[in-house]
Amino acid sequence: MKSQCLEIVRQKCESCKGCALAKTRNNVVFSDGNPSTAKIVLIGEAPGEMEDEMGMPFVGRAGQLLDEFLAEAGISRQNDLYIINTVKCRPPENRVPTDEEKSSCRKFLDAQIDIIKPDAIVLCGATALKSFVELDKKQTISKVRGKWMSVTVDGVEYKAMTIFHPSYLLRNHSMEEGSPRRLMQQDLAEIKNSVLADKVISETKELVFA
Ligand code: URA
Repeated sequence: MKSQCLEIVRQKCESCKGCALAKTRNNVVFSDGNPSTAKIVLIGEAPGEMEDEMGMPFVGRAGQLLDEFLAEAGISRQNDLYIINTVKCRPPENRVPTDEEKSSCRKFLDAQIDIIKPDAIVLCGATALKSFVELDKKQTISKVRGKWMSVTVDGVEYKAMTIFHPSYLLRNHSMEEGSPRRLMQQDLAEIKNSVLADKVISETKELVFA
């Protein structure tokens, strides 16, 4: 049922000419993951070059790094997550999407969340965060990441957490205590423990009774 509803939204999205990005895109990048099993919607910024070529979110360098962090945390990209972007078409030169592009695409983002009705939303980086929360000047990603908060989509409240965008981690290699990469590990562990608790229990049983 979710898949059928999403298919209708996908078709509308793929023929969208709501903003200028429609002229330069190769592919609309709609989603990845299994809508029937995903308990978490992970929202990025916008497709990059590889994503635009392949029509899939997070398949370039940043996506590969995200995959490594997810695998280490025991979060399955294919089963636990439904991965989408704030904006579905690539902005030229990978610039940050404009307010006009974001608002033109917003109906697709909201529809995807509304259909999935996830147990939690993970906001990956500043663009995703700012689509849901107005930040005052003192609130940087470093300050808000890792904390559960509540966001509302079409009148429904969801628990949400902001994490660093993997592109930021590509530029920050340190694994020292308190470094962005270590904080990413902590945040994903918290997401796994509090949203995918059943999975944690069954994996523990496997370990104990194997
Ligand atoms: N960055 C994003 O935010 N989304 C992608 O799909 C790829 C890179």
